[in-house]
Amino acid sequence: MPKVGVVGCGYWGPNLIRNLAENRNCSQIVCCDLRPENLERISSRYPAVHVTPEFEEILGIGLDAVMIATPLSTHYGLARRALEADLDVFVEKPFTASSMEAMDLIDLARRRKRVLMVGHTFEYSPPVIKIRDLIESKELGTVFYLSSTRVNLGLHQKDVSVVWDLAPHDLSMINFWFGTGPTAVSALGRDFVQPGIPDVAFISLTFGSGMIGHIQVSWLSPSKLRRTTIVGSRKMVIYDDTDHLERVKVFDKGVNFRDPETFGEYQLSYRTGDIVSPKLDTTEPLQAEVSDFLESIRTRRRPKCDGESGLRVIRVLEAVERSLHEGGRIIELGPPLEVAATPRDDRAP
Ligand SMILES: NC(=O)c1ccc[n+]([C@@H]2O[C@H](COP(=O)([O-])OP(=O)(O)OC[C@H]3O[C@@H](n4cnc5c(N)ncnc54)[C@H](O)[C@@H]3O)[C@@H](O)[C@H]2O)c1
Repeated sequence: MPKVGVVGCGYWGPNLIRNLAENRNCSQIVCCDLRPENLERISSRYPAVHVTPEFEEILGIGLDAVMIATPLSTHYGLARRALEADLDVFVEKPFTASSMEAMDLIDLARRRKRVLMVGHTFEYSPPVIKIRDLIESKELGTVFYLSSTRVNLGLHQKDVSVVWDLAPHDLSMINFWFGTGPTAVSALGRDFVQPGIPDVAFISLTFGSGMIGHIQVSWLSPSKLRRTTIVGSRKMVIYDDTDHLERVKVFDKGVNFRDPETFGEYQLSYRTGDIVSPKLDTTEPLQAEVSDFLESIRTRRRPKCDGESGLRVIRVLEAVERSLHEGGRIIELGPPLEVAATPRDDRAP
């Protein structure tokens, strides 16, 4: 059974530690953080867990793998050193600060035959998996557009913009749902609070299929919204991650258009049918994510969110950032990287 180190015990790291501690397939946990007060908090909650402020110790005490939950600027350096020490590596989202760094880690992991996984937690979330099923089974018909709102008040970060903090969630879900990312993006944003660090952004996406998309991310909004609308030719979906009773609603609504038989006469009819809230699995996404990492370590298979999946998101984030700096110019992404087939059936029951 794998022995796993967790680096970064701030806000998010303790969630990884809790899920490792509750997983029977992890035999030992070692935690690392630069701040003694964070290590003390872990020690008082998990007395059996060894803690250290030294990353070198994590590399040299016979662990199998490391999970990195530190600020973005440190992801590449820490992940590289762990891969060089022949550890399997999980890196929180966003994977790296550039696609060059992402490609280097992917290459190194391949050469060292190491598992490399990225923390795209939403891809393990039952409502997100349900929506993927609705899209794949064509229940929605042809998807025309999607619109996502991911806003709240704070927390302003020191080293990343709101785009790099929040948009990875939407971009990884889009890759997962449609098997491909956008071919072009444009974005408008502003740094209203901290100079040089945008806290509001409106991102437009164009896809090869003709679908269009929009993502709004903000740390400067009065209430927390996590809401995605997907409109297809047959049905429409609203996914509200803050609605604990009905996270996904499928609307049997649409518009039928018939070509006019004579000039000047055209017919539109609006269809409004049932609204269905599908039953969803209750598994905690992070539990499924941690299990996938442990299982990938054990069986040497690719995790669902591998390095390539992290890279696809970083490429779009870079293009969005370029567009932000160039006043909303449309940035072409070139041919989309196709998403590799998921190595197993992970649909919600
Ligand atoms: N998957 C998700 O849904 C999700 C949610 C929140 C955050 N995250 C990601 O998790 C990562 C951490 O975010 P956070 O909000 O916990 O940040 P945070 O600032 O609260 O915690 C980061 C911790 O890393 C420690 N640290 C920094 N450099 C270190 C080093 N070299 N060695 C050891 N420890 C070091 C800091 O002392 C701090 O305690 C980010 O990449 C973030 O995007 C993911």
